[in-house]
Amino acid sequence: MEMTETYKLYIETYGCQMNLNDTEIVSGIMREHGWETTDNIDNADAVLLNTCSVRENAESRIFKRLTHFSQKFKKRKNKLIVGVIGCMAERFNERLIDIQDIVSIVVGPDEYRKLPILLEHAMGGVKGVAVELSKVETYEDIIPLRTDGVNAWLSIMRGCNNFCSYCVVPYTRGRERSRSHTSIVEEVASLAAKGFKEITLLGQNVNSYHDKELNKDFADLISDCAIAVPQVRIRYTTSHPRDMSDRLIEVMASHDNICKHIHLPVQSGSDRVLKMMNRGYNREHYLGRISKIRELMPNIAITTDIIAGFPGETLEDHQLTLSLLQEVKYSGAFMFKYSPRENTKAFDMPDDIPEEEKLRRLNEIIDLQNKIAKEINHHEKGNIHRVLVECPSKRNPEDWMGRSDTNKVVIFPNPDAKFSQGDYVNVKIKRSSSATLFGEIVE
Ligand code: SAH
Ligand code: SF4
Ligand code: F3S
Repeated sequence: MEMTETYKLYIETYGCQMNLNDTEIVSGIMREHGWETTDNIDNADAVLLNTCSVRENAESRIFKRLTHFSQKFKKRKNKLIVGVIGCMAERFNERLIDIQDIVSIVVGPDEYRKLPILLEHAMGGVKGVAVELSKVETYEDIIPLRTDGVNAWLSIMRGCNNFCSYCVVPYTRGRERSRSHTSIVEEVASLAAKGFKEITLLGQNVNSYHDKELNKDFADLISDCAIAVPQVRIRYTTSHPRDMSDRLIEVMASHDNICKHIHLPVQSGSDRVLKMMNRGYNREHYLGRISKIRELMPNIAITTDIIAGFPGETLEDHQLTLSLLQEVKYSGAFMFKYSPRENTKAFDMPDDIPEEEKLRRLNEIIDLQNKIAKEINHHEKGNIHRVLVECPSKRNPEDWMGRSDTNKVVIFPNPDAKFSQGDYVNVKIKRSSSATLFGEIVE
């Protein structure tokens, strides 16, 4: 496309880390076509909302944002293009334009290569929709425009084939496909050369990663990445309990630069509910994985996701979730109220737990989990963590924040910014809250 001036693009990102990485991919694609990204919405030529559909409140936030835009930009002289990309684009399709007239382009997660041409048409007054899902698109050749200084996100696979009965992701992201092993290891090496200190391998279900040509799985991949960049921390998310193999656990244990944190969503502690959720494992299998992980890595941090109030969940099922939390003792959890999603299997089951009761169960889960996390953090007193320095703390600029190997946020005084972003420091923990550790740098 011929460009006489540079256009400015403002992107707002919602949802999971895969969306964060997609925003970088979109920025990379647009940069090749003469667009530059801006943090200031008021001088943007186009605004894209990269959206999430996982729960109803994620979607209602976006509708509110679009209503706000239609009011805010009504009187603007220069025409502003508003586009919706990501999971809601896939789910709502052209209906988004009908619902919100201000929307002029709708582009699903596998169609981002079409954004430059669709934006060009939109500037000429023609609205456009592209929501085809692909069996092969991985954006392997696109160089994402990364803005974060320490950590780089890297999507190693896209889509999901699991069809958990409550989940919209297989519909908005399409079938599972893996990027090539070779291209990932090369990108990891080039990110290290650019100065990134931490790389997070991303996918909805990273441990079902498979490079068909080389016949390499996720354990092979993470092992090769760890060897390629011994000075860089490797993280990954999300892994599925069913696919958490002994070999993957062994590989994690045998490399110092693979971070000792696993996010292993359990969703429920009741076999009956897990079955209705189509999760493909039961409580016993899950607890077996936890024991194996802790046997090889006693100090690992384990986090999870929980859904409260799934259709048909009895008080007994709910108690089983609480007892599982007691048993596993997670360092952290994302806890949600069940939200019915159209077209999923669970949508056909009666959403029979009253809203109030869902909230009561959710709060009970949150209270217990906070208590457990607080206890775990309390025992951290006196421990020394190797912390990757990130940035000044929001509360007090004399204090800085970083993350431990176990992915805990650690706050420590750093007078005159003696240590800066990307440095490693050893921090001795003095006190803690349920979410944060506080300490002092020691030699
Ligand atoms: N692929 C990841 C996470 C996907 S979405 C995994 O399988 O773990 C992140 C979390 O959102 C899920 O783990 C689940 O706890 C929650 N979630 C997904 N669909 C939901 C729904 N319909 N209602 C409430 N929570 C949901
Ligand atoms: Fe959704 Fe299940 Fe796939 Fe995770 S594994 S994205 S919860 S269908
Ligand atoms: Fe949301 Fe889509 Fe991620 S539904 S959680 S943005 S894959």
